[in-house]
Amino acid sequence: MNSDEKKQRVAKAALEYVVEDTIIGVGTGSTANYFINALATIKHKINGAVASSNATAERLKSHGIPVFELNSVDEISVYIDGADESNKYLHLIKGGGGALTREKIVAAVSQRFVCIADDSKLVDVLGQFPLPIEVIPMARSYVARELVKMGGKPIWREGFITDNGNFILDVHNLEILAPVELEVRLNKITGVVTNGLFASRPADVLLLGSDNGVKVLD
Ligand code: A5P
Repeated sequence: MNSDEKKQRVAKAALEYVVEDTIIGVGTGSTANYFINALATIKHKINGAVASSNATAERLKSHGIPVFELNSVDEISVYIDGADESNKYLHLIKGGGGALTREKIVAAVSQRFVCIADDSKLVDVLGQFPLPIEVIPMARSYVARELVKMGGKPIWREGFITDNGNFILDVHNLEILAPVELEVRLNKITGVVTNGLFASRPADVLLLGSDNGVKVLD
């Protein structure tokens, strides 16, 4: 089974975690897109969705799923989204698609965060995947210099603008042994909007699509 087939498998399995008659949060990326396809088959069972990116909002609408602005919603029952890496504590690296800030906001609001991924995303130590950091454009060089001082190798994702009008630095060479501490430390650099570590608010459940079915970690 290739990784796309595993993503489709896990996306379908996530339907079990959808809470009927509520508004749910929907993530961004290829796995989340498979989830949206699956969600369309049960769209009459939910009230609608909050999207973690403009692309996801468009995709939800194209399936006839009502999309709500987060500010008009009191609560989100469950947030379903992919990840670039997860450790066994369900600390994640996210933001490969550049939607990390809105993803983190929707995850923060949601009562439960169900992460869906193919089994290649489970790692012992986070950091093989370059850590995305969203920065205010005028602070790009300053933030990059601060990241170098911390031992990272930041690469500007040139030509890419986030939904919030900002830049992304992808930080290579990090061996992330203390994700919660690093998440806090990075967010303290002036000019950082947010970073792609989801450790202070990790996933509550990780579903991994594999050759043998779907493995559940919680
Ligand atoms: C989007 O910004 C990311 O956080 C995605 O959730 C992450 O990159 C996973 O993407 P795939 O599902 O495409 O692997």
